[in-house]
Amino acid sequence: MTNKYMYFIANWKMFGGKNSLNSLDKVIKFFKSFKKKNFIKIIYCPPNTLINPMSHKLKNTRIFVGSQNCHENEKSGPFTGFVNSAMLKDAGAKYVILGHSEVRQSGDSNKLINQKIKSATKSGLSVIFCIGETIQEKRKRMTKKVLDQQIKIGLRKIGNRKNILIAYEPVWAIGSGIIPKPSDLFQTINFIKKKVKNIKVLYGGSVSSKNIDQLNSINNIDGYLIGGASQDSKKFIDIIKKTYN
Ligand code: PGA
Repeated sequence: MTNKYMYFIANWKMFGGKNSLNSLDKVIKFFKSFKKKNFIKIIYCPPNTLINPMSHKLKNTRIFVGSQNCHENEKSGPFTGFVNSAMLKDAGAKYVILGHSEVRQSGDSNKLINQKIKSATKSGLSVIFCIGETIQEKRKRMTKKVLDQQIKIGLRKIGNRKNILIAYEPVWAIGSGIIPKPSDLFQTINFIKKKVKNIKVLYGGSVSSKNIDQLNSINNIDGYLIGGASQDSKKFIDIIKKTYN
């Protein structure tokens, strides 16, 4: 239970079609009557195919829409199959997730992520910048070193970090049902906050209504990036309710 301002970001990954927009009705209704609504920011990051219809559906609700990736070039060009930050903004997105481990696994380097962050902020999108170590790196006790590199290169030459949030997502916690030990998580979040002054740091990786009480007992987390549980409105609402009950 907390009284802090918190972010609840839904990452739908490669799930969802037109019909899944109906599942937002419950969340819109819940949010309207939620007493602590001024304490929370809800952001939905569906596949790009749903950004425009979803932003219409959420118009005037104060629930926001984001994308899960963008091209590094904010200007249009001959890049078959890609979408840039200006196009996402045009479609109704206000946020973009960059550096997610599933995108890093398909080839995004720290340097490329840095270019994407620059392009997104130029287009006026806020960035949810994901960082996190793999299980092998954790076993070798390299977590801090890896995070340090991801932050250093990812945020290089970005002076204005006002519209950037960091999401710490240990790769081994994503989709595994496992979350870090509270004391480890507290320390890692503190480490990130010391590296990047005045930044909000969210946690992501197997967040659920079952472990949210434990996560909320760690008092330096500024919100959650939620994958699997965000596709089920009831579970998503439960996570928010339990955070403030
Ligand atoms: P998960 O995904 O909640 O399903 O573990 C989180 C994420 O990948 O952002």
